Amino acid sequence: MTRTQYYVAASLDGYIADAQGRLEWLFQFNDAEGVMEHYQSFLSGIGALAMGARTYEFLLGEGKEWPYSGLPTWVFTHRQLPALPGADVRFTSEDVRAVHARMVEAAGGKNIWMMGGGDLAAQFAAHGLVDELHLCVVPVFLRAGAPLLAAALHTPLELAGVKRFGQGLVELRYVLPAGTPTAQAPSPG
Ligand SMILES: NC(=O)c1ccc[n+]([C@@H]2O[C@H](COP(=O)([O-])OP(=O)(O)OC[C@H]3O[C@@H](n4cnc5c(N)ncnc54)[C@H](OP(=O)(O)O)[C@@H]3O)[C@@H](O)[C@H]2O)c1
Repeated sequence: MTRTQYYVAASLDGYIADAQGRLEWLFQFNDAEGVMEHYQSFLSGIGALAMGARTYEFLLGEGKEWPYSGLPTWVFTHRQLPALPGADVRFTSEDVRAVHARMVEAAGGKNIWMMGGGDLAAQFAAHGLVDELHLCVVPVFLRAGAPLLAAALHTPLELAGVKRFGQGLVELRYVLPAGTPTAQAPSPG
């Protein structure tokens, strides 16, 4: 059965990007023992991707080859953004529930990667559309930046796993409660 997984890395103080939208603080851990193998194993279970416009623009700005070729990707935006060659990208500003239903179909039984950011993840979570949080806790403090989740979620999550990597990285895997959670829904982007 398809699971929607918010797979993300955040600083100890809960930011997924620094105040300039940069990720060097995260990329310095790319060689940490076990991280890449774990990421490859996660990615092999993914059949569709969702991300916000700023995350997509970050990937464009990297100037590299599209890293998710063959994976249908929904980019939420109200703007016209350039498509990257080789990328199966659909730009949308439709209701997240309708898009999610199409993503489940496209995933063909594999899982959905909710890549972020935290506002889009919160919009999905507000409708009970996030099943799991895979949070890689990065041992740095950023003090400001893009938040991990732009909503309050008062219902406790269930801890499903803890994995240690090199250089002090830890992944916490949580299952979100089924159904629509008690949450303060953010306004759509
Ligand atoms: N550490 C990690 O694992 C991780 C993971 C993901 C992202 N990131 C980083 O986080 C930063 C971006 O995160 P972010 O939270 O600032 O932004 P984001 O979620 O990537 O993008 C936000 C934008 O998405 C669009 N949007 C959101 N909801 C929408 C909706 N319902 N309908 C239509 N458009 C919608 C809006 O763009 P428009 O103005 O175009 O409408 C909004 O300004 C980047 O630096 C990225 O690299 C880090």
